[in-house]
Amino acid sequence: MTGWAVAGPSLALIKYWGKSSSADNTPATGSLAVTLAGLESRTEAAFDTRDSVVVNDEPQPLARFTPFLDNLRRELSLGDQGLAVVSTNNFPTAAGLASSSSGFAALAGAVAALSGSSLSRPRLSALARQGSGSATRPVYGGFTVFDAGATAAEPEHDEAFWPEFRVVLCVVREGAKATSSRTGMESSRLTSPYYGRWVETSPEVLAEARQALTHRDWGRLGPLVRQSYLRMFGTMFSAEPPLIYWQPESVALIHALAELRAEGYQAWETMDAGPQVKVFCPADQVRKLVAELDRRVPGLRYLTAEPGPGLRTGRKE
Ligand code: PMV
Repeated sequence: MTGWAVAGPSLALIKYWGKSSSADNTPATGSLAVTLAGLESRTEAAFDTRDSVVVNDEPQPLARFTPFLDNLRRELSLGDQGLAVVSTNNFPTAAGLASSSSGFAALAGAVAALSGSSLSRPRLSALARQGSGSATRPVYGGFTVFDAGATAAEPEHDEAFWPEFRVVLCVVREGAKATSSRTGMESSRLTSPYYGRWVETSPEVLAEARQALTHRDWGRLGPLVRQSYLRMFGTMFSAEPPLIYWQPESVALIHALAELRAEGYQAWETMDAGPQVKVFCPADQVRKLVAELDRRVPGLRYLTAEPGPGLRTGRKE
């Protein structure tokens, strides 16, 4: 018997960065995100004599997974059964493309499916949270909100809500990053003098962005997206030691996008705990935008995605 699940990564327009409870992965700032189609974590789980986790054909150290699996065993009444987990991402892993969001959502889904319990989406979202806060979100498709202090994400608009909405992922570096978001946000919280203001000013940015999204209003949403990631990075740059995920090409892309907006593009970038730049823009601008970015910052790989479905799960013999 195998439980399987498929989840897309959840990319935040408005960022979660910092926890109000680190033991529990409860966010200090609320986030607004989109679940992406086409990029996927596919996970299978089976009972075994002991735990094992293989991601993209590589056996993983269990330390990162044991508390998560223990919690699943407790919540799903699985006793002390071992779990053999095999997961594949069809996009770069641990490189700031939100693979932990899709990975932990798919892991929670696969083990829940294996257990035979039919869990509600809020329950699955709360279980995924124990692995990674952002993993609460792709349990739902389309646009989602994970509020400050919440234990689960909530659906905001489904994947058909804004058919013209696209994301261009500019892959600056393929390898895994040096500092995880978990470590990075804790260090920002403990050492950045700006962290408190980041948390205080976040609710207003989130509330305005939700409004702008409801109206599908690029002109209002874009500047809020920019404000959110740059304020978040303000806490990283000012942490001790400083956390600088950006690479020269990341900065070159930020400047190129500012120039392209001045030429009339509605293309608004964001970044996460890694060097990649992700650009939100209307579908009819994607082709020319990628050509312009490639001309100005040559040699990068570009992936395009649209809003996608939430977690899918099942069980097979
Ligand atoms: O939950 P984590 O550890 O994947 O942290 C997510 C942090 C950011 O990607 C930077 C922001 C976000 O809301 O996804």
